[in-house]
Amino acid sequence: MSSILPELRATIRNHTHADEAVVVEQLLHECSLDNKQREAIRTHAIEFVDRCRAKSHKAGTLDAFLQEFGLSNNEGIALMCLAESLLRVPDKDTADRLIAEKILSGDWASHKGQSKSRFVNASVWGLMLTGRVVTLDDDFQVDTASWMKRLVSSLGEPVVRKAVLQAMRIMGGQYVLGRTIEEAIQKGTAQNHSDARFSFDMLGEGARTDADARRYFEAYADAISSIVATGKRASVSDANGISIKLSALHPRYEFRQKQRVMTELLPRVKALALMAKSGGIGFSIDAEECDRLDLSLDIFAALARDEELSNWNGLGFVLQAYQKRATHVARWLIALAAETGRRLMVRLVKGAYWDVEIKHAQEQGMTDYPVFTRKCHSDVSYQVCAQILLGAQREIFPQFATHNAHSVALIRELTQGGKEYEFQRLHGMGHLLYDEVVKENPNAAVRVYAPVGKHKALLPYLVRRLLENGANSSFVNRFLDAQVSPAQLLRDPMDETRSHAVAPHSGIHLPRATYPKAAHPWANAWGIDLADPLEVAPLLEAVMAQGDNQHKAEPIVGGERMPGLSQLLHSPARNATAVGEVVVASEEAIERALARGALAQPAWDRIGAHHRAACLERVADLMEAQCHSLIGLIVAEAGRTIDDALSEVREAIDFCRYYAQQARAHFCAPQSLPGPTGEVNELSLQGRGVFLCISPRSEERRVGKEWRSRWAPYH
Ligand code: FAD
Ligand code: 2OP
Repeated sequence: MSSILPELRATIRNHTHADEAVVVEQLLHECSLDNKQREAIRTHAIEFVDRCRAKSHKAGTLDAFLQEFGLSNNEGIALMCLAESLLRVPDKDTADRLIAEKILSGDWASHKGQSKSRFVNASVWGLMLTGRVVTLDDDFQVDTASWMKRLVSSLGEPVVRKAVLQAMRIMGGQYVLGRTIEEAIQKGTAQNHSDARFSFDMLGEGARTDADARRYFEAYADAISSIVATGKRASVSDANGISIKLSALHPRYEFRQKQRVMTELLPRVKALALMAKSGGIGFSIDAEECDRLDLSLDIFAALARDEELSNWNGLGFVLQAYQKRATHVARWLIALAAETGRRLMVRLVKGAYWDVEIKHAQEQGMTDYPVFTRKCHSDVSYQVCAQILLGAQREIFPQFATHNAHSVALIRELTQGGKEYEFQRLHGMGHLLYDEVVKENPNAAVRVYAPVGKHKALLPYLVRRLLENGANSSFVNRFLDAQVSPAQLLRDPMDETRSHAVAPHSGIHLPRATYPKAAHPWANAWGIDLADPLEVAPLLEAVMAQGDNQHKAEPIVGGERMPGLSQLLHSPARNATAVGEVVVASEEAIERALARGALAQPAWDRIGAHHRAACLERVADLMEAQCHSLIGLIVAEAGRTIDDALSEVREAIDFCRYYAQQARAHFCAPQSLPGPTGEVNELSLQGRGVFLCISPRSEERRVGKEWRSRWAPYH
């Protein structure tokens, strides 16, 4: 029987940057819930929220803190920036300057008395600034802003630095179960119900060196041994398990290095998986950035097919519903399980890297985003993925990881009549909600994802939690906020999607149209997703073809090829390979070119800045259309990597468009396009040519007063 896996992989690839509206229409179509069920889910979720709010005093300090200092005010953003950057700032002076800037710029007084938590209202500043809960001066209550300023200047920034670091440590402490796996196992057992399940996560990701990767490997191996030593449970799904991140196990875990990844990373993962199998525990591969997905499917398929890992139901994958290709990945996982005759664990999440994905796609000029741009679209996708996974009980043990009461109620509805599954929550989050879930159904299985490690390794994880908790689109951010009614908080995702006409978010333009029209009215250069096999294949073909070509560069003056001394050109990356020939311009050719240039100058100048700008834009368009062969040429001639060559071409395109826009803004009268005034022409003629015309700001710095006075009227 032929495998359907290749076809499913092709579908997954075709949906990487799919049109959001088309994908969401399809999701709505696939959703099996009727109106009655959707209303029941909403009502159930509202009940959960009401019950949790009634005991909100039991929520952690951090919940109250983030509710007050989320990402919707400058002070919250200042604190998040500090949390995000402080541990990475290598020198103390810079750290002090960062603290001074962030702390002194906030309007801290506006938060006075806002939070219901006494701790957040006053003591948080003691916590922030001294690392202990202290009683603050009365002054603090009266005029917080000047109190903060005085404190920073009287204590001195180094003291504040230590205090802020300490506060970050306390914040991080909420999310980490223990510094070592032994401590985490002991604390986890003491703090939870005896049936509680854990998936331990050894903090650490994005290895930079092989030494990092080996260190993380040892930490995982050590953790697996310790988890196994806690004793066997009835089944692998009852047992404690481990979650790993592939980026921790190899410094080049990226599509460009696929061969290395398959020969170097795969054996490491397999060695860990074998340990987990022999200990009878679960082994989940966390989902990371979207550009790792394709590669992670190859690794996962290799593990699933590995004979040595057969007869074990602990192999686990994490599926991110916010990816446009999520439902196709769900189907591929089911087919993989069926074809390899095993049951896979699949943790369904929405995805923790949303902000990164949006920025990355914009920076890379991708055709579209790999993730949805509306939260409700991710929710609908979660709904459909849950349906698909629950429809394959023989192949999949589904694990629903969420802190959203609506998503929990959805799973409860979809599993009416009995299904095998578990819920998952992160340590330090979701305990109020899951206490209610267990109260309602004492048999509900809940696994706690428990990070383990030292504070330094926590940072990326902490930032993701702070973003998640601080963003007002997140359920947890408004979960306990009495200002937001449960009905407002818990809109049905399908209704919400339809209320926006199934359209992408209007404030998040496609990556190519990222620049706001008013400030930068030009298009972001097209990029190539170097992690997308479909985009990489034609590029590689062009690069190879350019490498095989023997190029010839020669002076052309007035359309005529000029003779000159010919030299062979070798690739700097492979010295023995000649990539072509360059004809060096003779003195005569240069003289002729200059003469023709001077002759053409008056007409070129008369034609005006608008026309010249259009020429630059045409150059940009042509470079964009021939991007593949230009990249090939740069790789062949300059020995650059494909990444660098792509950046070089995109930079040139961006510059052409930028200068065209600047020329129009500075030299074309708004009402009388395309022509600039006569004076401008005259000045540009006498002046410094094209460069002067199109880059007034840099020229201003270079020639100073003389230039400014001549051009002042046009600014
Ligand atoms: P909700 O508030 O319902 O959802 C928030 C999520 O919605 C955001 O995280 C984002 O995914 C999405 N979202 C927000 N704004 C938008 C928008 N404008 N457009 C589209 N989507 C948007 N994440 C991983 O990536 N990999 C993992 O391996 C992983 N493991 C996890 C394990 C556990 C046990 C748990 C609980 C979570 C895990 N997560 C993982 C995190 C998870 O992906 C979510 O970030 C987090 O749980 C929030 O989702 P929610 O359902 O709790 O909350
Ligand atoms: C993360 O590391 C929980 O895997 C998820 O953010």
